[in-house]
Amino acid sequence: MHTITLDSETDFDGWRQAARRLALNQVKPQDVTWTVRGGTPELFSTETNDLPEATEGTFNVPAKFVELAKAAILHRDPERFALLYRLLWRLRSHHDLLSVATDPDVAGVSAMARAVHRDEHKMHAFVRFREVGRVNTHFVAWFEPEHHIVELAAPFFAKRFADMPWSILTPDVCAHWDGHEIAFTAGVAKSEAPTEDRLEETWRSYYAAIFNPARLKVKAMQTEMPQKYWRNLPEASMIKPLIASAERTAGAMIANEATEPHKPQKRQDEPMARKQTHDTQARGTIAALREEATGCRACPLWKGATQTVFGEGPQSATLMLVGEQPGDKEDLAGHPFVGPAGQMLDRALEDAGIARAKVYITNAVKHFKFVPRGKIRLHQKPNTPEIRACRQWYERELAAIRPELVVALGATAAQSVLGRITPINRSRGRLIDHDGTKVLVTVHPSYLLRLPDEKAKALEYQRFIDDLKIAADQLRNSARAA
Ligand code: URA
Repeated sequence: MHTITLDSETDFDGWRQAARRLALNQVKPQDVTWTVRGGTPELFSTETNDLPEATEGTFNVPAKFVELAKAAILHRDPERFALLYRLLWRLRSHHDLLSVATDPDVAGVSAMARAVHRDEHKMHAFVRFREVGRVNTHFVAWFEPEHHIVELAAPFFAKRFADMPWSILTPDVCAHWDGHEIAFTAGVAKSEAPTEDRLEETWRSYYAAIFNPARLKVKAMQTEMPQKYWRNLPEASMIKPLIASAERTAGAMIANEATEPHKPQKRQDEPMARKQTHDTQARGTIAALREEATGCRACPLWKGATQTVFGEGPQSATLMLVGEQPGDKEDLAGHPFVGPAGQMLDRALEDAGIARAKVYITNAVKHFKFVPRGKIRLHQKPNTPEIRACRQWYERELAAIRPELVVALGATAAQSVLGRITPINRSRGRLIDHDGTKVLVTVHPSYLLRLPDEKAKALEYQRFIDDLKIAADQLRNSARAA
């Protein structure tokens, strides 16, 4: 009997190396016991590794097996190592075995891999960060995965929440992101995780905003969001009331339903007609979004501001400009870029050959952030939680307008558009493909206003124009290619 002790529950490399050596030495599956270092050893096993000697020789297994094994090894079933070795053993002489879906070993490993991927998706969907600490802000989440998926799932969060330091605590292992790399530490008890923070309300408003009663399918929702995950979700307290109110609304809609037959839709195959249809839908969407955003309470900035300043411009815009946040003038007027930075932007757009009237202009943050100083309201830069809370509006504007190019004006806009802190000097002036959207990063026009000497001002103004001309050229080229 050979006892193989792996370094951890997720030690795929250790398993692969051992399995290969065992198979080359003709060690039958029934003669191997698999354990994990520090885990509960199986009966009579020790933490020693009695691997047979390394032997010359090779054998091949299908790439699909490696893919399946990498996922299945993360399953919590202690039998998985033995099952995988049995399948590997059999695959050497039966190359097509994986195509026999009814084979018990194939079915077992495939079911494990599927369960692991399902659990990974659940983790992506149901992790909720809570803010800890006012000075060195950190975001912490508690999650209880069914399988050993934390290492597998962590890169998703590093990409999605690249601009905030976070930790995901679980009973098995904890993942930590400092803005540069992911580190893993031992698991902890649930009592170590925060239970409430000031973002709680943000999550609830966001959930209420995206909840669409017309799409409500309670059964599907309960399958997708099993109740065991609810207790960690800030929005959980809203699920039942929202379902109840959606049912009431649907009942009222059915009771008041118009009795006129539907008019047949006219076919619109022409590209022009399609564009008009899209425009009409988008027009409705932007107007609805603007209306919805008037009551946005996703972060505390609404409290001091006069009003939400939403994006403006034609729905057919191929260029979208994103600024930081409305300033004093914009807050009072309710329109973006109408103050001094707006005048600078107007001049630059004209010099770059771009008509402002054809551009959709918005801001990363839709409420004015300031501190009062006597009669003046001093502009304050929005922080990461505020940018994140407001990002839903940018994402929804982007989906409605679908521009060919987004120009991010300054660091706040770049952080919102690209989803991570982006140093302007390293990224400016080149086209970046971000999740299928072309993005150009440049400075904010107010940066030009702040420059102390005229020479620097002229130089930087010219660089700003050069960046905007890249945008203009890009739009001209894509119009020509269309
Ligand atoms: N600065 C911005 O970023 N946006 C505005 O709307 C005004 C000034």
